[in-house]
Amino acid sequence: MAVRLCSNVSELLEIVKQQRDRNRTIGFVPTMGFLHKGHQSLIEASRNHGNFTVVSVFVNPNQFGPNEDFETYPRDSERDFELCGAAGGDLVWFPDVNDIYQEGSETAVVPGALSECLCGASRPRFLPGVLTVVLKFFNIVCPDLAYFGEKDFQQFVVIRRMAADFFMDIKVVGCPTVREPDGFAMSSRNVRLKPDQRDLALTLYRIIMKARDMFGKGERDAAALKESLTALWPSEIDLDYLDFRNPVSLQQVSVLAPDTRIFLGAWLDGVRLIDNGPLVG
Ligand code: PAJ
Repeated sequence: MAVRLCSNVSELLEIVKQQRDRNRTIGFVPTMGFLHKGHQSLIEASRNHGNFTVVSVFVNPNQFGPNEDFETYPRDSERDFELCGAAGGDLVWFPDVNDIYQEGSETAVVPGALSECLCGASRPRFLPGVLTVVLKFFNIVCPDLAYFGEKDFQQFVVIRRMAADFFMDIKVVGCPTVREPDGFAMSSRNVRLKPDQRDLALTLYRIIMKARDMFGKGERDAAALKESLTALWPSEIDLDYLDFRNPVSLQQVSVLAPDTRIFLGAWLDGVRLIDNGPLVG
């Protein structure tokens, strides 16, 4: 069936109810739009699980800091609708900001220790804003499963934690990072890179590969590996963090293990770049 569009909450509730009445499970893929193959992989995962798949497209103002890129965040709703249909989505929901943040609304989610490190440390409004909007979406859509990319690994971990902490009957599914053929992690923000910045931006992936290589050759000391990798970092990119952390607790490790993840965050001429991956992948 062709993909449908809605922007009205009551219409969304009606469509989802009809599908539930037909015993369909509901899969949910929240996005900020400007879709690419990474987003499409989440939609495909939901479709392959047999769900009726709801995709939201909403650039959430409350997860951007005052000097961040809310205004310049790329937007193209027509293209999003098409790409969503092509990936097998059933319903694209463009929430109205006034429905999500109704007049008088003031309650927000307060994250815990998992949000204190990595992007949570350098972008304090980001994870509280994400958790609050995702909780609102979860309560509206009531999905059985919700799909998130490992590209934003900390975001995936804190959302999974929130679902467990609030006894939400939603399975939070993590999906692998989709990359360009050269390894560059896909992101909506990549269109804001100038052509001559593309190679520099690939540094994050190169560093992940180098970390894997050195781990493979026997390096187990996190501090020593961090020092070697930092020495390779080009001065044109502002490094925010380069950390080795446990994939569940997000605590820093001193002795590296195969499931230890390397996390990288940076800014290139104002464009936010993040990437991560396990030392053995
Ligand atoms: P957005 O950046 O649009 O990402 C939507 C979903 O797509 C997230 O789960 C993200 O991890 C996933 N994604 C992005 N790039 C990916 C890639 N290269 N491979 C695999 N998955 C990828 O993340 C957000 O929006 C927002 O914070 C949101 C959760 C929607 C809340 O506003």
